[in-house]
Amino acid sequence: MPKTVLTGVQATGTPHIGNLLGAIWPMIKWVNQADQAFVFIADLHGLNSMHDPKLLRQYTLEVAAVYMAMGLDLKRAAFFRQSDVPITAELATILTNVTPKGLMDRAHSYKDVVAKNLAAGHDADLGVNMGLYNYPILMTADILLYDVDVVPVGKDQKQHLEFARDIAGYFNNMYGDVFKLPIESIREDVGLIPGLDGRKMSKSYGNQIPIFDSAAELEKKIMKIATDSLLPEDKKNPDESVIYTIYREFATPEQTTAMRNKFLNGKIGYGDAKKELFAVMNEVLAPRREVFNELMSNPDRIMAALEQGATRARPIAEATIARVRKAVGL
Ligand code: TRP
Repeated sequence: MPKTVLTGVQATGTPHIGNLLGAIWPMIKWVNQADQAFVFIADLHGLNSMHDPKLLRQYTLEVAAVYMAMGLDLKRAAFFRQSDVPITAELATILTNVTPKGLMDRAHSYKDVVAKNLAAGHDADLGVNMGLYNYPILMTADILLYDVDVVPVGKDQKQHLEFARDIAGYFNNMYGDVFKLPIESIREDVGLIPGLDGRKMSKSYGNQIPIFDSAAELEKKIMKIATDSLLPEDKKNPDESVIYTIYREFATPEQTTAMRNKFLNGKIGYGDAKKELFAVMNEVLAPRREVFNELMSNPDRIMAALEQGATRARPIAEATIARVRKAVGL
């Protein structure tokens, strides 16, 4: 049976190496193996945390250029901006009416903010807008519009997928079999990708390695990776090393085994290991960096590609919403 895959990507920051290894590459692999795919930049979702229009536009371009440069197959995948399919917002509005408030109260994304507020002695809902609160409903609309089979997401999105199935079920119970229930598929975890200081690589820690800095800047960043004070001849545990953990994601299996042995047998110092890390990373990233830079200096080309994707997505969304309108009596 042909498989249709859908996934949304956030545009709330410049993607870094942690995003590349944990989400972007695994997602591109999923999509490039599907028969048909929908991949969109969740810019309407982005509005609940990003209130700077210039920045939202900038991140949209950057995220799109990263996926394109990294080899998302635009023939297979309709790649578009969520906001270019405004029917998404209409479906989300309709779905609010079959969604129990209690379900939204249980969303981790919302509950986490409440828990942080309470711990800090603030009002429970400080800084919570309705966009954040309704986030799972908008995400459900994204998914149900395209009659998809599989939604590959990271573990953190598991509950949102369950909500999508719940909401589709409430709707179908009330109005008949309008929606196909999507199957979730949790992307395999590549494990934690550490940042420069050894903590999880994250924009909020400021410890990230950008994907498309110049080669010189990439090298400088890599040289800043924190290490302990073991000497080159000391035996080192590769599995506790930020250098090795990132190295193995870019190196060939043979290179990885060789590096592992050098760590275990005290045959390499951190300075040299960093140089080798830079070499494997730059080999993979350099040709992609050129494509990325080329795209970023021609934003019109990025927008044209996204518009083309939207042109493919819209008729499918229109067919779904026609079914929905009829079912509810609009
Ligand atoms: N919430 C997802 C994330 O944070 C992004 C997203 C929005 C999404 N809509 C979606 C993912 C629909 C899968 C399907 O990563």
